[in-house]
Amino acid sequence: MSFRDNLAARADAVGGFLAARIATLPEGPITDAMLYTCTGGKRLRGFLVLESAALYGCQASAMPAAAAIEALHAYSLVHDDLPCMDDDDMRRGQPTIHVKWNEATGVLVGDALQSLAFELVAEGDLPAERRLNLSLTLARAAGGAGMVRGQALDIAAETAAVPLDLAGIGVLQSLKTGALIEWSAIAGARMAGEDTGPLATYARAIGLAFQIADDILDVEGDATATGKAVGKDAEANKATYVSLLGLDGAKAEARRLVSEAEDALAPFGERAEPLRDCARFIVTRDR
Ligand code: IPE
Ligand code: IPE
Ligand code: MG
Ligand code: MG
Ligand code: MG
Repeated sequence: MSFRDNLAARADAVGGFLAARIATLPEGPITDAMLYTCTGGKRLRGFLVLESAALYGCQASAMPAAAAIEALHAYSLVHDDLPCMDDDDMRRGQPTIHVKWNEATGVLVGDALQSLAFELVAEGDLPAERRLNLSLTLARAAGGAGMVRGQALDIAAETAAVPLDLAGIGVLQSLKTGALIEWSAIAGARMAGEDTGPLATYARAIGLAFQIADDILDVEGDATATGKAVGKDAEANKATYVSLLGLDGAKAEARRLVSEAEDALAPFGERAEPLRDCARFIVTRDR
């Protein structure tokens, strides 16, 4: 199966599982809007959970964690798009939640998706201590020392008197986007109760490369393909690799990170090919 077919099949499976779970919630606008967030999306984080689980022989138990990270990621997108954050009207090719419903619905849908994520990682048939470990590490990746901290740095940087340097932008990007991707890419080792070290370099490198590619797409991408507005980062004075290094510099850094990620998988041999394909996809995608 080609990488793209594999990604699409896993995206359908994770999206279907998540939608079915949301459909069990009481009927109403929050449930409707949560289901709405399940449309589209690459499901790359869910894919990483399933593939890292497969590498460690835990694929049969991985679906709740894959759905959990997609719920948590969807929450981060709904809040990221709010008028008080990036103020975006389009996401995954559709009007954002606060446009289609209202801001209160956007806030509450994000809250509910985050809670659902922790419900999901607590479920399933893995030994209880491994589910606890997934939950603890997901909380750290998502919260005030992780994604939320990165989002706060991102917003603060828009109006900073002195622009962030390369190290500062690296920290910001590794937190706002890298943290959840890292968690996804090493989740399989946690499910198996194994050391996460062998996947750590790969996970870190693709997390950062993913946001650099997102920033490049904001400049060079097509809104029809990305399903969201483009050209907004410069307008909002966002601190990105592109703003600091220019397009060519950002592309070179993304390529360097992908090579680093591929090399870091050497100990796994051929079995890690889907994860290697994923690293290459991250910087060649058009959406
Ligand atoms: C977009 O993430 C937000 C970032 C962290 C850059 P994705 O590009 O994975 O968005 P979807 O899930 O495919 O819509
Ligand atoms: C978002 O980064 C990171 C999140 C935590 C959601 P961006 O603000 O660049 O993501 P897009 O471009 O809106 O998808
Ligand atoms: Mg943002
Ligand atoms: Mg945004
Ligand atoms: Mg962006």
